[in-house]
Amino acid sequence: MAVIAWKEVYETGIVALDNEHKALVAEVNHLYEAIREKRGEEVLGEILTMLQKYTVDHFQHEEKLMAEYGFSGLEEHKEVHADLIQSVEDIKQRPSSGTEKLARELMQFLRGWVMAHIVEIDKKYGPFLESRAGRFVE
Ligand SMILES: [Fe+2]
Repeated sequence: MAVIAWKEVYETGIVALDNEHKALVAEVNHLYEAIREKRGEEVLGEILTMLQKYTVDHFQHEEKLMAEYGFSGLEEHKEVHADLIQSVEDIKQRPSSGTEKLARELMQFLRGWVMAHIVEIDKKYGPFLESRAGRFVE
């Protein structure tokens, strides 16, 4: 069972970015499954490592496209990204890292991220980029 089922309404309309968002959702579901099987602690390190890379690569990708096409919400969006990067860092630094409890906290955090960031904030650049760059911009 997945904790987040991808829905079309989550799409920004930019295929490459939607694929990256889907990869994050897959990680959240993977973590959720592991927690249900009491293996949250086991996958925690692997997911945190993936997230650190993901935040850098994916956020740079979004910011590059917003900058290239002159999206007016870029600065505001960058601040939100910086906060998310900081949150991932904070979770990594927790002394309780490697526990089931932390795995559950990370799950809640990621779920909130998908719902608040992807569904609300990222959707703002969607129609703008689509009209300027097309759905298949890389
Ligand atoms: Fe974003």
